[in-house]
Amino acid sequence: MARLDEPVDIGGVTVPNRLYRAPLLECAGNGEGAVETLIDELEPTAASGVGLVFQGASVVTGEGGCAAPNMTRVHDPEFVAGLERLTGAIHDHGGRIFLQLAQGGLRSMAVWHAGYRSQNPQLEQLAVSRPPWQLRVLDRAGLIDLSPRVLDTSEVYELAAQFGRVAGYAADAGYDGIHLSGANMSLLQQFCSPLFNRRDDEFGPDPGEPAAGGRRFLEAIHDAVREHADDVALVTKVPAETAAPAFVRRHLSFDDAVGLASDLVAAGYDAVVPVAVSTFWDMSIVRGAYPDRAWSAADLRGEYAAAFGGPLRARAVSLLNRLQARQFDREPGWNADLCRAVRERVDAPVLCEGGIRERATCDRLLGGADRPPAADLVGMGRPFYAEPRLGARLLAGADALCASCNNCTVPQVAGEPGRCRTPAIVRERARLAARGAYDRPGDATDESGPSGD
Ligand SMILES: Cc1cc2nc3c(=O)[nH]c(=O)nc-3n(C[C@H](O)[C@H](O)[C@H](O)COP(=O)(O)O)c2cc1C
Repeated sequence: MARLDEPVDIGGVTVPNRLYRAPLLECAGNGEGAVETLIDELEPTAASGVGLVFQGASVVTGEGGCAAPNMTRVHDPEFVAGLERLTGAIHDHGGRIFLQLAQGGLRSMAVWHAGYRSQNPQLEQLAVSRPPWQLRVLDRAGLIDLSPRVLDTSEVYELAAQFGRVAGYAADAGYDGIHLSGANMSLLQQFCSPLFNRRDDEFGPDPGEPAAGGRRFLEAIHDAVREHADDVALVTKVPAETAAPAFVRRHLSFDDAVGLASDLVAAGYDAVVPVAVSTFWDMSIVRGAYPDRAWSAADLRGEYAAAFGGPLRARAVSLLNRLQARQFDREPGWNADLCRAVRERVDAPVLCEGGIRERATCDRLLGGADRPPAADLVGMGRPFYAEPRLGARLLAGADALCASCNNCTVPQVAGEPGRCRTPAIVRERARLAARGAYDRPGDATDESGPSGD
């Protein structure tokens, strides 16, 4: 049985403990100050003792492919070289940092964000195949705005090569690993998904193996990453599309995801993060309450209308949000069964995240007395918006404050930074900081400042 404070090896990279910050949008963009914003966001987490920090999804192409406002692009080697200050800051605290690489494909902002679309009318979305009928119906109804460009075979290889080149820039900048955005309806998930992938070349599905095309694309990315960045660890999220809506018959099953994870480890991936998601971008990845406060924030209402294409549409999205908040099971550690099933099949670390809030849950996932461990590392996402220095408290045995209320998530569609917007939690964090709860043994001074208070 592993303990949370024990080191673990991921592809030759020693991570000092088994607690990680799951990838979350930092909304740092690429402008002046982007590196500083990332340091402000991520350094407190490493300073609080978190062993592994995953920087959020960063886009590998120079155009399109952003799933949300202000995402950072990493196609430019000069920009990535500047991130050395960030990796150095994390390493100074003894932590490790992996960069998550992404391309949104049909989940790009140009599809759903009315303001962005009108400023960038020329943008196309990289597509695996002709979009599924469900998205075409929404497009025809004017609710989304598709202009897909289906990648030909040589473009798929070129895109895999681009992931590899960016991994090389990241390795040069001091990143310890690459994490692929393989879920959350990213382009990588679209390759794996039988709903999106109808290709008939080598990147299409095989009879009996719906994820075969995605697997081969991920294998091509693996080879490209190894070509440019031999000594970094390589990790990917692996989607089980078990939270797909009932009207989507073609989706990756639990067993498909276990098989895919196992094949990817056999192909050389150093660790996997199995996650139960939908085929679309919805609340299945951020299960929790309807974010009432965020939707009713008077200063953001105009921004929501601009993003969704008018106040009526913003209200429709809010209604959908309300229905989904009821729909998804929010059991703490909701990916645990999937992770456990994968862990039984692979000889590599399995990372588990999703709704984990209590120290006891972390300990149980790493090695329950009654069941085999679900994971080798445990991660949290939203709790780090609420408490950037959460590691200190968790490693000392306490629980996270985050109540999964999701008030942090919706404002991001308006380009707002990710932070906790629930006053009771912000007040409690301030009270804990004043009591020194975020200090670690050996901290020279009271560092409550970087906790965001
Ligand atoms: C605002 C927000 C942004 C996220 N961004 C990413 C991302 O960039 N890449 C990714 O793989 N997952 C992303 N996720 C999913 C998280 O990594 C995590 O799986 C999810 O939040 C569930 O964990 P939690 O309950 O501890 O928050 C994001 C989640 C939230 C709330």
